[in-house]
Amino acid sequence: MAYTVLARRYRPEGFDSLVGQKSVADTLRNAIRMQRIGHAYLFSGPRGVGKTSAARIFAKALNCETGTRPDPCLACETCRAIAKGTAVDIIEIDAASNNSVDDVRELRESAGYSPLRAPYKIFIIDEVHMVSRAGFNALLKILEEPPAHVVFIFATTEPQKLPETILSRCQRFDFKPIGEEDIARRLDQILSEEAISMDSEAVRLLARYAGGGLRDAQSCLDQLITYAAGSRIEARHLAELLGLLGEDELVNALEQAARGDLAGVLAFAAGLRGRRLRAGDVLDQLQRLLLVLLRMKHLGPAAGGTDIPPALKERCQRYADEQSSEGFLAALELVQQGRNSLQRGLDPATTLELALLNLAHLKTLPTLSELMGMMVGGKKKSSAS
Ligand SMILES: Nc1ncnc2c1ncn2[C@@H]1O[C@H](COP(=O)(O)OP(=O)(O)OP(=O)(O)O)[C@@H](O)[C@H]1O
Ligand SMILES: [Mg+2]
Ligand SMILES: [Zn+2]
Repeated sequence: MAYTVLARRYRPEGFDSLVGQKSVADTLRNAIRMQRIGHAYLFSGPRGVGKTSAARIFAKALNCETGTRPDPCLACETCRAIAKGTAVDIIEIDAASNNSVDDVRELRESAGYSPLRAPYKIFIIDEVHMVSRAGFNALLKILEEPPAHVVFIFATTEPQKLPETILSRCQRFDFKPIGEEDIARRLDQILSEEAISMDSEAVRLLARYAGGGLRDAQSCLDQLITYAAGSRIEARHLAELLGLLGEDELVNALEQAARGDLAGVLAFAAGLRGRRLRAGDVLDQLQRLLLVLLRMKHLGPAAGGTDIPPALKERCQRYADEQSSEGFLAALELVQQGRNSLQRGLDPATTLELALLNLAHLKTLPTLSELMGMMVGGKKKSSAS
């Protein structure tokens, strides 16, 4: 049997399984409850956050055989056909490949015919920003005088590319990046349904690195499952797959740098060269860790939250206590400089190595208060003391 990827198998069927888009779901439901159904909707937002899924759910709600209702039955033939993408009155068009004026004219013609089975004929147009200029003009004509039974749902990741004339005729819904906790919860559900075991720390890491996209999180989980090949999925698997550093490695590196152990840092950096790491992500990790440690310094271990794995809590707290706030700020500044260098196109491995070396050098520089002391006292002081 052909394997279907998780992202396809776990497409949300109803509004209550649409994760992290509550205000969108509530507004669409209310529109139906209050019988205020528009002719054109624009779903905008980043990749893989539920735009197409929500469009299909809304289509079910409009066309469900048990009657138009805020929460479709999901069981009737129409609801099931919409889920499979085979409903005759739901026309899904990918504007990336059907963007010419002729395509839109065809669409206009089709919109003129009544729906065959259901109350509404619904056009779901994905990547609508790809429609050509002439195509938009043709589209505008239908939007100006839409047939009563027609509903358009446009989806796009780039709403700023749409002409104002189209935007102003749509009800706009902005889909948000999905929060880490929501992503983690959904992953946990999927893992339990698939009977796959994964460390909670690894789930948390994955949720964080999905950057708000549930599809990305699920695709990555697919890869992880294959990668771990039947054994329990650990944070280590994820770090290897994504080219990230393990949290213990990061803490090690910071400790080495804090000791001014240049030899240790150099050896560590050399080790990184052989690994398939993404320097930008590693710098992000470092930045995030430093911020959490700074918080722990001032607010205590609880401030580490779920960012610091339990096994590292004690070491991290010790590190946080030992460093000065100024030291943290200087380190964060250095990491930021590293990110800037990357953006300027410097070699990632070198950038990373330099950032780490600079961190280790911080130790040998006088602190701000030492400098002030030097200035006020007017006496020479060795920077190493
Ligand atoms: N909000 C969500 N709730 C539940 N699952 C989601 C959500 N967003 C994305 N997914 C998962 O990701 C898959 C793809 O989602 P969907 O096609 O709705 O995203 P999209 O926003 O249309 O993305 P794109 O911009 O790439 O078209 C779904 O099948 C589902 O598994
Ligand atoms: Mg989509
Ligand atoms: Zn139904």
